[in-house]
Amino acid sequence: MSRADRFLRACRGLPVDTTPVWIMRQAGRYLPEYQAVRSRVGFLELCKRPDLATEVTLQPVDRLGVDAAILFSDILIPVEAMGAPVIMGDAGPSLPEPVRDESAIDRLRVLEPESVGFVLDAVRMIRAALSDQVPLIGFSGAPFTLASYLVEGGGSKSFIEIKRLMFQRPELAHRLLDKLAKSMGRYLAAQVGAGAQVVQIFDSWAGVLAPEDYETFALPYTRQVIEALPAPRVPVIIFGTETAGLLERLRDTGADVVGVDWRIEIDVARARLGPGVPVQGNLDPCALFLPREHLARRVEDVLRRAGPSGHIFNLGHGILPPTPVDSAIAMVDIVHERGRARASQ
Ligand code: CP3
Repeated sequence: MSRADRFLRACRGLPVDTTPVWIMRQAGRYLPEYQAVRSRVGFLELCKRPDLATEVTLQPVDRLGVDAAILFSDILIPVEAMGAPVIMGDAGPSLPEPVRDESAIDRLRVLEPESVGFVLDAVRMIRAALSDQVPLIGFSGAPFTLASYLVEGGGSKSFIEIKRLMFQRPELAHRLLDKLAKSMGRYLAAQVGAGAQVVQIFDSWAGVLAPEDYETFALPYTRQVIEALPAPRVPVIIFGTETAGLLERLRDTGADVVGVDWRIEIDVARARLGPGVPVQGNLDPCALFLPREHLARRVEDVLRRAGPSGHIFNLGHGILPPTPVDSAIAMVDIVHERGRARASQ
């Protein structure tokens, strides 16, 4: 078995030669070669230039030896193409025209994947450049997380605007979520058509929802996105943060792999999800600031708790810009080395 197979096999719960590993935001500001590209072009331009998106997608594959590549883009790119302007500032994204009433929701267009042809071109270029060294992950935001950005107008701490819409004008919230679900279904299907071999749905803010509200406003729409994928379906990873209260419901979206953040032990998560549900995670991104021997202990602990199959090693959220590159490289090496010993036991 080779580096090319282990990630796809783990997504299906099949035996592997060693635990596959990749890192959320693996092409990002902690990498000096990414910074070099970014010093020449803005973030959104980088997303819209398939040649540059291909270059930065490959950087961590070469530098870290990870077992999957992830399309370089952002969850807000298709939202912009639906008609909501997006500004990417240093403090994160902002949407200067928040979508809070009926007419704003009705003005949003259901995504035509051709309007983000640069993303599909990037997928094709990346696949060609990878020449099957490792599989390519496509992605989108989940309807709820995207609706949060649209209604809040950016990131949020309290999520008061999206929740106010959900609780005071539920029919409008549902109309917005349905538009986003239709759009993301088409978007991911188009990425798969262009060559994405796995897709990850980022429901980064799902953890702000009470379970009852996740069931009403998030789960059915994520399920709708997954059901829009062509058969035979590529593996789908569902990811969110602070989701320890929602794990079974994340699984019930129909996703094949459930992402787990570091706020719960991954064996506890697996026991809750039941046998045969592959998981991805779950090292605290800040563990990469530990001295190497402590990092090794934490990595081993995740591997031991997760078990030798149906586990994709990852951080519990994106890698942070000040992370030392050597620490990320060490993490990948430790996973492969210890994972190999475990797989052969
Ligand atoms: O994982 C990867 O390497 C692929 C690329 C990727 C980016 N964003 C690049 C990016 C992916 C998968 C995303 C998804 C994304 N974008 C999410 C879901 C994942 C998560 O972290 O929960 C969210 C919530 C966003 C929205 C977003 N985009 C935020 C909050 C920020 C600012 C925070 C930050 O880390 O800078 C961005 C900007 C962004 N997206 C950057 C990158 C590399 C940094 C932009 C820069 O180069 O200045």
